[in-house]
Amino acid sequence: MFGRSYTPIGMSDVIFLGFLVICLVLLVGITVTMVYFIIRYSRKRHPQAEQIPGNIPLEIIWTVLPTVLVLGMFYYGWVGFKTLRQVPGDALQISVTGRMWTWTFEYPNGLKANTLKVPVKKAVNLNLTSADVLHSFFVPAFRIKEDAVPGMKTYLWFQAEREGTYDVFCSEYCGTGHSGMLSKIEVVSQDVFDQWYAGETAKPVKAPDGAALVVSAGCTGCHSLDGSRIVGPSLKGIFGEKTHVLTDGVERDIVVDEDYIRRSLLEPGKDVVEGYPAIMPAQTQLSAEEIDAIIDYLKTLK
Ligand code: CUA
Repeated sequence: MFGRSYTPIGMSDVIFLGFLVICLVLLVGITVTMVYFIIRYSRKRHPQAEQIPGNIPLEIIWTVLPTVLVLGMFYYGWVGFKTLRQVPGDALQISVTGRMWTWTFEYPNGLKANTLKVPVKKAVNLNLTSADVLHSFFVPAFRIKEDAVPGMKTYLWFQAEREGTYDVFCSEYCGTGHSGMLSKIEVVSQDVFDQWYAGETAKPVKAPDGAALVVSAGCTGCHSLDGSRIVGPSLKGIFGEKTHVLTDGVERDIVVDEDYIRRSLLEPGKDVVEGYPAIMPAQTQLSAEEIDAIIDYLKTLK
């Protein structure tokens, strides 16, 4: 399930570990001093408080030292943040849409994919948005993460230094399928990328493929194709069968026909199969042809 994620120690790790060490030293130092003072200067041992007139060198040390430390931490945090926010002008621009519960990547030439293929040592800028709820695009190996927000554009850029396959997670709870909202970034050489890109672009526009669509639209995250029960009812052999649904809270029997499947995709809350939660998101991103292709595919799933 998980790709190879070779992660060298990078700048952000050095900064993170540096902050961690500073925090640990302060935590231990302050706690130990505090406990020592509580015991050493307790009222039992010192019924009479001593008058301390002040200590200039000490005042200077504990003002200057933390100031330098905190400004240093701010500096490194700021440098890292600036790098993350300044996208190189020649970056490859890719649109990323999060929806319950898949990621879709769209290249400048209109090519769409569910796995992000990019060339190595090339800046890539991801323009993120969401079709439904909040998601968050997270690539642990690259130490980058950004929210995908409905009705808003956000962005995130990276430059992969090594070829390989890296995991993409959704790191914002977005419903039942959240933990399964996975994808991959495939980093390949520029040659391999160019070949793939040109090849995919040159392909004639073919009729939508229902079998591929039920996977890419995320259907199989909740609906099995082999009869087993997951989050929703299995899609195996449902076409033409009778099923028991709840329509506005009223039970009724219906036949799974083309209209029912179309309605289930666009208005999933309308007729919910009894015994299953009414949680399916509307698949309004699907075109009429794509829905027809899915219907044709479901007819074959006997
Ligand atoms: Cu999408 Cu969590």
